[in-house]
Amino acid sequence: MTGFWNGRRVVVTGGAGFLGRVVVQKLRAAGADVAVPRSRDYDLTHPGVAEQLLADTSPTHVIHLAARVGGIGYNQAQPAPLYLENLLMGTHVIEAARTAPGVDKTVLLGTVCSYPKFTPVPFREESLWDGYPEETNAPYGIAKKAHLIHAQVNAQQYGQKFAYLIPTNLYGPGDKFHPSVSHVIPARIKRCVEAKELGEHKMDVWGTGTASREYLYVDDAAEAIVIAAEHYEGTDPVNLGTNREVTIRETVELVAQMVGYDGELVWDPTKPDGQPRRRVDPGRAEELFGWHARMPFEEGLQRTIDWYLANRAEAERDPF
Ligand SMILES: NC(=O)c1ccc[n+]([C@@H]2O[C@H](COP(=O)([O-])OP(=O)(O)OC[C@H]3O[C@@H](n4cnc5c(N)ncnc54)[C@H](OP(=O)(O)O)[C@@H]3O)[C@@H](O)[C@H]2O)c1
Repeated sequence: MTGFWNGRRVVVTGGAGFLGRVVVQKLRAAGADVAVPRSRDYDLTHPGVAEQLLADTSPTHVIHLAARVGGIGYNQAQPAPLYLENLLMGTHVIEAARTAPGVDKTVLLGTVCSYPKFTPVPFREESLWDGYPEETNAPYGIAKKAHLIHAQVNAQQYGQKFAYLIPTNLYGPGDKFHPSVSHVIPARIKRCVEAKELGEHKMDVWGTGTASREYLYVDDAAEAIVIAAEHYEGTDPVNLGTNREVTIRETVELVAQMVGYDGELVWDPTKPDGQPRRRVDPGRAEELFGWHARMPFEEGLQRTIDWYLANRAEAERDPF
């Protein structure tokens, strides 16, 4: 704790979401005065709303986490709003923060889905523009990547200060378990728990299981955001990851084992795998602002399962 946040006023868009709640907790614990706008009051896809939000709250820092986010099924079903709403929200927030008096810095969240489908592993920030993203998450990934260019040209022309962070797949307590939006970890925890309860001998799983992912615990990601908001002044994007790659098969088998489901896993190769491999190089975050992830995957997974079992109604709530 440096005392930096004492008396600072921060707007966290999406601050009631999965990641946002943890960021808000950390900022408040560090002494910041934090405003958490809700989409029902400030729909950031609409022109003028972001300006109104900043006029109402007068922040020194804007942390933009609001987004439409989902897993592979959601990405396939809703490509149009995933592109347009994410593009509009970020565009409006960046411009509003640029013109509002008193905003020192804007933090923007990118996504590992912005990387090209085939990228040398570990993904380095320099590879971001080397190809088209995996098709199912391209609308979301490209909308988010456009925010980086927007922030960089604003920095160049107007001196707007920002930090652009690229987290890999997040997981942890507070994640969304409703099938319409859940990512692989919450989706599999829910299915394994249900299959165990119902005594099912088999469980279908999408894809071949050979694709890999890297999972970042939500507290680690939130810590990186708070540190970068204070310390990072550059215009280059910065990966946030753990340097540990786990196949989908290993992920599902580990979840099944931890939940205590011992039925057969039946892989369905007719369903998409998504991006073939994912692991980012987290070295720039360590080098530039001294952050690295701390939560071991098995412990983070156990905490997520425990939270889900203790909060099933809240976890499975339909977000729409
Ligand atoms: N989850 C991941 O694995 C992951 C990975 C990489 C990057 N990220 C990025 O991390 C950020 C947070 O993700 P998350 O998983 O915490 O998402 P989340 O739980 O879905 O939260 C997103 C929040 O965005 C707000 N929002 C949505 N539409 C809005 C609108 N039109 N106007 C204003 N606010 C709106 C919602 O606010 P209300 O609750 O008020 O409706 C919601 O709480 C996003 O930028 C995402 O792209 C996430």
